[in-house]
Amino acid sequence: MSAKPRVFVARRIPDLGLDMIAPHCDMEVWPELLPPSPSVLKEKVNGCVGLVSLLTDRIDGPLMDAAPGLKIISNFAVGVNNIDIPAATARNIKIGNTPGVLTEATADIAVTLLLAATRRLWDSAIDAREGRWFTWDPRGWLGQDLSGRTLGIVGMGRIGLATARRLHHGWGMKVLYSARSPKPEAEKELKATRVEMDTLLAESDFVSVHTDLNADTKGLFGAAQFAKMKPTAVFVNTSRGPVVDQAALAKALREKTIFAAGLDVTDPEPLPKEHELYTLPNCVIAPHIASATVDTRNAMARICAENLIAGLTGRPLTASVN
Ligand code: DGY
Repeated sequence: MSAKPRVFVARRIPDLGLDMIAPHCDMEVWPELLPPSPSVLKEKVNGCVGLVSLLTDRIDGPLMDAAPGLKIISNFAVGVNNIDIPAATARNIKIGNTPGVLTEATADIAVTLLLAATRRLWDSAIDAREGRWFTWDPRGWLGQDLSGRTLGIVGMGRIGLATARRLHHGWGMKVLYSARSPKPEAEKELKATRVEMDTLLAESDFVSVHTDLNADTKGLFGAAQFAKMKPTAVFVNTSRGPVVDQAALAKALREKTIFAAGLDVTDPEPLPKEHELYTLPNCVIAPHIASATVDTRNAMARICAENLIAGLTGRPLTASVN
């Protein structure tokens, strides 16, 4: 009887996924809440044919070389910026991800952050809890209106479209977008208009970011971009932290050159508790929870397991990156 292929699962993903994977391999699951260190991960993948990784695990060429028999890296995320894709391709290692199933949950968080930041839910709730709710104040906690305003979507992929749908159909927002190519579905359904980034920044009341993180989008939002936005504008990021120059964002929020921001992603993650962004009342920060619903995480676990199992047996992946 031939030995089962070894697989390292770098975190306790939902049981649904672990139960699917277990019968197909000799599986070791990293039991800790925090990720294995790069050196521990390197030891763990030695001798493995499959790896389940998370967005917190850096998977680069040297790591892959520590596992010469590695055939499949199944990332428990749609984003794959934690993996050196050319390095994997060069080594004939398949990469899988989990697209589609977290679209709606992520769009829900983009809208949640947008609403919370725009209507000052964050600082007003903190004020109430901390004893600063003195009276009904006609001038207190004034936010911005939403209905009929203009939404700028940066990156009109699945999640950008789902976010735009909610805000267009729910609040009657006019939709502008920037993307590498035109998006006929968004143009037809939402009457969305593709514009240059500068136009989007100048005309939008809300700017919501949904790009991948890559060499072109790293630092896409810096001082120059925030300076082009309206003083009443609200900035939302549910993509990846490094898309934003956080020092520039903090300055724009502190000096009120923009109204507020809602972030589900930061750089680094976790954002250290002494970071300035936490001190700004006009900045709402969530700890990267966009896909954190029971059903969504189970759906991600299912695709992740399917990809892993297919990769072990040389079959096409459910969702393949390379
Ligand atoms: C992803 O999948 O890339 C999200 O950031 C986490 O669910």
